[in-house]
Amino acid sequence: MKLTHFSLLVAFVLQGVYAVPNLPSNDLKPRRTSSILINPAAQPALPSAQQAASSSASVGLNLTNIQGDILIGMKKNKELFFFFSIVDPTSFKSQLGADILPLITSTTELLAVSTQPNTLVNIAFSQRGLTALGITDNLGDSLFTAGQLNDASSLGDTTSNWVSEFAGTSIDGVLLLASDTVDNINNTLSQLQSTLNGSISEVYSIQGQARPGNEQGHEHFGFMDGISNPAIDGFSTPLPGQAVVAPGIILVGEQGDGTTRPSWAIDGSFLAFRQLEQRVPEFNKFLIDNALSEPNLTVDQNTELLGARMMGRWKSGAPVDLTPLVDDPVLAADPQRNNNFNYTHPDFNLATDQSHCPFSAHIRKTNPRADIGGSFSEHIIRAGIPYGPEVTDAEAASNVSSTDPTLERGLAFVAYQANIGNGFAFLQQFWANNINFHTSSVGQDPIIGVATPDGPRSVGGLDPLDSTRDITLNQDFVISRGGEYFFSPSLSAIQNTFSA
Ligand code: HEM
Repeated sequence: MKLTHFSLLVAFVLQGVYAVPNLPSNDLKPRRTSSILINPAAQPALPSAQQAASSSASVGLNLTNIQGDILIGMKKNKELFFFFSIVDPTSFKSQLGADILPLITSTTELLAVSTQPNTLVNIAFSQRGLTALGITDNLGDSLFTAGQLNDASSLGDTTSNWVSEFAGTSIDGVLLLASDTVDNINNTLSQLQSTLNGSISEVYSIQGQARPGNEQGHEHFGFMDGISNPAIDGFSTPLPGQAVVAPGIILVGEQGDGTTRPSWAIDGSFLAFRQLEQRVPEFNKFLIDNALSEPNLTVDQNTELLGARMMGRWKSGAPVDLTPLVDDPVLAADPQRNNNFNYTHPDFNLATDQSHCPFSAHIRKTNPRADIGGSFSEHIIRAGIPYGPEVTDAEAASNVSSTDPTLERGLAFVAYQANIGNGFAFLQQFWANNINFHTSSVGQDPIIGVATPDGPRSVGGLDPLDSTRDITLNQDFVISRGGEYFFSPSLSAIQNTFSA
């Protein structure tokens, strides 16, 4: 059935979902019949527009004012990150309000296929970009203000690995364009570029895409991703075991954000972007060379087990805390169960027992659940997407990643939070890279941790038969290629503060 503009308008009114009245809106554009998002069974479903409208009303959240990428997690199918510098601030400001704002996708628009745009368009600015636009208010986040390059050594990055454009600090902002096809994205980009008519110029771009076939939703090492994001009070109904956070942990100026902000910043969020290269052939070789030796498991199963204990989940997404020795794909695909764990078990010493999940496992390092009492504010919404091609036969045969830059693969990592120092940067610096978290000398996170100075590093707890045995990683399998910190403003801030 072809939806007319009028029937769409009626549908909006019936759902109680109406754009902020004084904002231009693209609600009346032609709509789609298939989603721009992926929805693997293991990932939590988005709330319906109706559910979200009623729960957001209960806490006074305005989902039509919040850019769409912030709360939807890792559900993008194809996504282009277009990093730009502002060449002509005066023209850009007037185009932003008049021509770009109507294309910016709100959260509400994404919640029903019929209201999704052809291509999601979101925009975020670095501190340098705010300055270029003459916005002098202090947003109250010192890491954002200083930029990510200044944070590189605290994050454990080797800046010689950074792509020059991130190290060059000429990035004023990023356009995020997401859809189900690259053609849609390219058409929207052409439309934006002709509208902007030279007021911005491209500095760098990364094309991300969900992996093909059965790997959809899995990151390049092969593990299902996007299973565990916190539920935002007022947006979604928590699933069993899911952390619930006040909206102000992710959205600036909302309840739970303890920092003083300019009033226009409300409903924005800080976007921490990282280009994280993944050395997949080397990771696979490491698992084979260090396969565990659980009795009753085959060599292949012991190989898989080591990877699962490094991540804290099997490749299917099933948590090792619930199924420690064998994968359970049915559990993995069940959102009612796949987050329902907190590392405690009856007759189990939480402080010493790593038989189910190592203390160093990636998901335990980055969300320690009951290890630190269960209720804490160091949460992020992860909204990244894999980039780069699949491993080639030649790479798989040699166990070495190609040096051809067009074959680089990894995760275009995106984290949203209201406070970068309490969110992404905290998780990376104080948990993942800290050999003494959560237990003395447990080692860094085997997936994303980095030793300073660079070099081989020992990780504890990976062997269930002897948790005191350290396993040495001679190299890191995730290499930071740099990134930037951005602020993703609300639609009303784009209209009233960012536009001329
Ligand atoms: C290439 C780099 C990375 C890979 C391959 C990776 C992979 C994964 C996978 C497979 C999961 C389990 C699925 C899920 O629970 O959603 C996960 C969870 C998670 N990751 Fe990462 N990740 C990477 C980088 C990062 C970084 C840089 C951070 C933050 C500093 C981070 C924070 C988290 C958090 C908070 C969770 C959820 C843990 C939980 O709630 O149980 N990840 N990651």
